[in-house]
Amino acid sequence: MKSNPADYTDLDPEKLPAHVAIIMDGNGRWAKKRLVNRVKGHEKGTNTVRTMVRTSRELGISTLTLYAFSTENWQRSKMEIAGLMALLKKFLKSEQKEMLENDIRLNAIGEIDRLPKGVQQELQNTMNITKNNSGMLLTLALSYGGRSEIVKMVREIALAAKTGQIGPDSITPELIARHLYTKDMPDPDILIRTGGEMRISNFLLWQIAYSEIFVTNTLWPDFSKEEYVQILKAFQGRERRFGKTES
Ligand code: FPP
Repeated sequence: MKSNPADYTDLDPEKLPAHVAIIMDGNGRWAKKRLVNRVKGHEKGTNTVRTMVRTSRELGISTLTLYAFSTENWQRSKMEIAGLMALLKKFLKSEQKEMLENDIRLNAIGEIDRLPKGVQQELQNTMNITKNNSGMLLTLALSYGGRSEIVKMVREIALAAKTGQIGPDSITPELIARHLYTKDMPDPDILIRTGGEMRISNFLLWQIAYSEIFVTNTLWPDFSKEEYVQILKAFQGRERRFGKTES
């Protein structure tokens, strides 16, 4: 997509998505093309994270969820995992001031206890110091997998049923949503995937039931504010029917 700075002002502030979810893919290919280590691609991708957080906040988007590390990503090389974890820790430390200044609250979803202790501490620290912010909720999906999240939800509900707190008729979509990591968030209006693959990759399986999906071939490190705004504009042009017919 071509960049056009004028597009920024063309957005209808009344029709912005409340929740944008992003699968940040293509860091490895970006690095491969330049014959550099994959971690360099993640490092460059961290700059894009910063840009997307700033742009989302500037635009007034209230919830941004980024898929930063999947449960499957534990199968990558020790070196790549260590590089990613170090970048994550550095990012959290360096962005605390900006999150505070811009009224951003940090949140994390996934199997957080599997992360290295140092990352867990920095996450906890950043979540604590930003907990009263309400301008935007920034959620990092870390060691996250949609199927594991569903298993966790089913286990919790099964336990409540076993102990007689609920019966089969109490199991509704609302009850299920209350047992997911995303219990306090609206479902994503948009799911963006960079890197061109037509896959969901185990991301927010329940929550994306009615999300508008946008896949761009741009690799995450090259994804720009201009392209983001163009996707938001395209979203504003789509008719969302949630399974109903046209009104
Ligand atoms: C997918 O690209 C990306 C990841 C597995 C990690 C995403 C991480 C970042 C953008 C940087 C760190 C995150 C934060 C929040 C500071 P890939 O490696 O699968 O790319 P490929 O498909 O081209 O191999």
